[in-house]
Amino acid sequence: MFKKKLFFIMLTIVLVGCAHTNDPIEAKIDELLSRMTLQEKIGQMNQLTGTGLSKDMISQIKSGKVGSILNELDLKTTNELQRKAVKESRLGIPLLFARDVIHGFKTIFPIPLGQAATWNTQLIESGARVAALEATSTGIRWTFAPMIDIARDPRWGRIAESCGEDPYLTSQMGVAMIKGFQGKNLSDPTSLAACAKHFAGYGATESGKDYNTTWIPEVQLRDVYLPPFKMAVDAGVATFMCSFNDINGVPSSGNEFLNRQILRKEWNYSGILVSDWASIDQMIKHGVCNDLKDATQKAVKAGVDMDMMSYAYINHIEELVKSGVISEKQIDESVRNILRLKYRLGLFDHPYTKEPANMPFYTEESLEKAKQTAIESAVLLKNDRNLLPLNEAVKSVAVIGPLSDSPADQLGTWCFDAEPSHSVTPLAAIQNLYGSKVKVIAEKGLTYSRDMNAQGIAKAVLAARKADVVLLFVGEESQLSGEAHCRADISLPGAQSALLTALKNTGKPVVMVVMAGRPLTIGKEVSEADAVLYAFHGGTMAGPALADLIFGKAVPSGKLPVTLPRMVGQVPIYYAHKMTGRPADKMTMIDKIPVGANQTSLGNTSYHLDAGDGPLFPFGFGLSYTAFHYSGVKISKNSISQGQSITVSCEITNTGKFDAAEVAQFYVRDLVASLARPVKELKGFQKISLKAGETRTINFTLNTEQLAFYNTDMINRAEPGDFQAWISTDSQSGKPATFKLL
Ligand code: GLC
Repeated sequence: MFKKKLFFIMLTIVLVGCAHTNDPIEAKIDELLSRMTLQEKIGQMNQLTGTGLSKDMISQIKSGKVGSILNELDLKTTNELQRKAVKESRLGIPLLFARDVIHGFKTIFPIPLGQAATWNTQLIESGARVAALEATSTGIRWTFAPMIDIARDPRWGRIAESCGEDPYLTSQMGVAMIKGFQGKNLSDPTSLAACAKHFAGYGATESGKDYNTTWIPEVQLRDVYLPPFKMAVDAGVATFMCSFNDINGVPSSGNEFLNRQILRKEWNYSGILVSDWASIDQMIKHGVCNDLKDATQKAVKAGVDMDMMSYAYINHIEELVKSGVISEKQIDESVRNILRLKYRLGLFDHPYTKEPANMPFYTEESLEKAKQTAIESAVLLKNDRNLLPLNEAVKSVAVIGPLSDSPADQLGTWCFDAEPSHSVTPLAAIQNLYGSKVKVIAEKGLTYSRDMNAQGIAKAVLAARKADVVLLFVGEESQLSGEAHCRADISLPGAQSALLTALKNTGKPVVMVVMAGRPLTIGKEVSEADAVLYAFHGGTMAGPALADLIFGKAVPSGKLPVTLPRMVGQVPIYYAHKMTGRPADKMTMIDKIPVGANQTSLGNTSYHLDAGDGPLFPFGFGLSYTAFHYSGVKISKNSISQGQSITVSCEITNTGKFDAAEVAQFYVRDLVASLARPVKELKGFQKISLKAGETRTINFTLNTEQLAFYNTDMINRAEPGDFQAWISTDSQSGKPATFKLL
């Protein structure tokens, strides 16, 4: 009997193998699928959160009802659960263990918004590789990252997890993280399957409130929100995750247009599409499904392969297949996608994770990469009288503020496996690294970012009076940003602004360092401080990074990945805005309006009476301790035809006395088109290091594909006409050159 069975299995492999020509994995999938019962197929589509070695979990695994487990973090437990699946279930299909490893596992890197401020894709890739090495050592082989939602609303807590407002920068950062997580080969045991999330349009959430509705015209969806996801597909991202939001009334977990038309048909994607946590079930709350059975049908038809924690698939697919509402063929498609990743990860051959003698956490190399990333993620916004870096004349510093010594807060959101005990805070770093050069007077003033304690401010003022310079660390506690942590008022929380004013009134120079999970409205504080470093939440090594920047061992090179608004009422505010028919060329500000003035005497252009027009600091902005001079932009040809390319170049000179890095940004504008186009769009960037006095020519190649946009007929193409091109230090500087597309 066994021989007969073996013969048929081998025959199946041979026959099916022919069907898949030379793809051995597809042949294996076909063979395994042919032996799976419907219940076992459904089991693969079921993802549950870990409950250790609970009887219920073990019984579900042994009966083939679980395909993936998230949030199981104990290696012995993971291997034991895997043994149950491989040795004690009928088909021995291995489990896929997953976790949110967003910006580090144990060694925590800056939040992704801070990482985007580095504009350094190689550095970001190396950081994701560190996260993969640490996470896979505990049996995790799938992370739910990178989050590549375009975020243009700082009220939204998840802007912290994003790479900011621009599709091109987000695409480059997302690809770097995918490469870092997945490594060279998914079958390598240190490879961590990445997940492009949240598909799609989540960042357009109305009013910056999480999980809220979005209204996105298809041209904007395709021009702004989808490009980073398409780049992720091209980079070989192993999985996708649905977003919680609806787009124009259709929740992503039930969106056939998004998941079948775009992801599968147009992009030919064959990876796993997993729901977000209970997002299938939430379609009932959305009001598009009557019950879980209805939601199951909608999600299967929309091509969602795996159900994260809705208990929808495991409870309703069998009945829906048996009643003919959904076909087993649709189920087979999803199971193929799941099995394909498990084969590619090598889980069938190596299902277990070796228990290393020492876990590869916090290695010197990892900490150094985390520190370098924190250095390059800090953006210098102001530096009056070149206060920074502090020179030998400074003999004492007062280290003040709620973020000066807060090991947990500097890690930021979405790092549940972090250990704050490993954080090196700014105070600790300044004391340890520079305590021999300067006297360090420590006084937090406020103990946490929302603290309103005026007594603390008085103590801080006393400390400031004893020092030559005040180093003030303000911002947000880590739990004031991240999922479901949105703020309608994005100013500095608590009494931090009052603390700054009190310190300013001592007459001492003040360096303000902002450690936050989002852009904050800090116009008043920037005007009061003498120097300002915007450091986001910088991770485990934020302290040493900031200390080196403040004392000049490192030079700031960060550039804003997102606009800093003057007031929250300006939101959404971003550099790639449209010109409008009345751009703000004439503005009468609110305090200049004569009493009784006639309503029509104010210039009638597009601006706010109380905020004017434009941001506090624009996308791409960031100062250095040195200065860079950009020569005029040169273009290789004045006109190009479809399919051709041009070279745009300029010379950059480091005119200061510090060797430093600069991010040269390449922007383009389509002056006249069938649709109003943005006043500028980022099409390239280069981060270059220049010695003091050094000049370098940099070139960008632009092809007509990069000028394409979706028109009202949903055709993506570049239209003939006049264009402008900039190479500049930020999105608002520089003079353009012009060229024509014929
Ligand atoms: C959360 C998040 C998602 C995360 C998932 C698993 O609700 O929306 O980004 O990956 O659940 O933790």
